[in-house]
Amino acid sequence: MSEMTGHRELSLEQIVSFLKADRQEENELFHRSATLKQAYVGNNVYLRGLIELSNICEKDCYYCGIRCSNRQVHRYRLTHEEVMSTLLFAHEKGFGSVAIQSGERSSPTFVRQIDKILRDAKKVTGGEIGITLSCGEQTKETYRRWFESGAERYLLRIESSSEKLYGKLHPADEKHSYGRRIRALEALKETGYQTGTGVMIGLPFQTVVDLADDLLFMKQMDIDMCGMGPYIEHAATPLWEDRHQLLPLNERLRLSLRMIALLRILMPDINIAATTALQAIEKEGREKAIRIGANVLMPNITPARYRDDYFLYENKPLTARNDEEELDYLEERLQAIGHRIGYHHKGNSPRYKKRTGREQ
Ligand code: 5AD
Repeated sequence: MSEMTGHRELSLEQIVSFLKADRQEENELFHRSATLKQAYVGNNVYLRGLIELSNICEKDCYYCGIRCSNRQVHRYRLTHEEVMSTLLFAHEKGFGSVAIQSGERSSPTFVRQIDKILRDAKKVTGGEIGITLSCGEQTKETYRRWFESGAERYLLRIESSSEKLYGKLHPADEKHSYGRRIRALEALKETGYQTGTGVMIGLPFQTVVDLADDLLFMKQMDIDMCGMGPYIEHAATPLWEDRHQLLPLNERLRLSLRMIALLRILMPDINIAATTALQAIEKEGREKAIRIGANVLMPNITPARYRDDYFLYENKPLTARNDEEELDYLEERLQAIGHRIGYHHKGNSPRYKKRTGREQ
């Protein structure tokens, strides 16, 4: 089989066996995924400046540090001005896009705030900056409103595609139901977004079959982008109790890299992010992911004084460098592994173009 067409129809059994691979098979896997990546998306890495808008959240997910029941969290919300100046920084630095991430809220005020950010962002950058939203489950109406105001991408992780496992990670009420999550993802696609999803890797109770199913789920959903990374326990969450059955962190990292490689083989033309949680385990975790399949990086550009409060999991990387130094550092690191930053490009998902015929 040629490298271009090879192994895109991996079976569940084949995926499971790659997830359990020994070192030699792992090398082959990484070689194949890196080659496919090169052929389909090249060696450009696109930047999404990550803006952590607010850690105020209505959800109570058992794994997440900013769940509403965690009273130890100092809650914050960026002002409109802070968001705009962060956005302008990203634009000036040549970032093709930003990702606005927030705890989930559904109040009309929240919906309006996002809407205003979107419209002003388009105005001040002359439509040049791409915007990904990651603001959880919303009504179809809200998704449509935000899309019309200029958000072209939306990232909503399924967290786990196994309904049973999803049930163990979330409270048993409608607000946290698996069905509601799936319907939200479908609504995003129907609305016209470049749609992204993802999962956590190495969760308690999770099997390699669950992970293989996650990959097939993404393929079947025909998503345009993916952000997935290792689960990292957080002391102030219910899932902390189950930490004794977790894989060691370095194995969760390896499993995550294999997941990224396998996804690149299954879906060679999508955008795959090297997520922050990879870096939380190993300083160069993201670079490793870039080498074997990822093509998107999300440097955190949230105003520094808020960053510690957006604390989803332990060891969240907090850099001592400022954002500009961080960018220089990234550039150097990427160059060292034969990649370069795709400045001034939105870096749309090639999959989306093929799927819809639309540029964005
Ligand atoms: N470990 C890793 N990722 C986490 N997230 C939330 N909590 C954790 C954790 N403990 C991820 C979820 C969510 C995203 C915003 O952060 O996948 O969708």
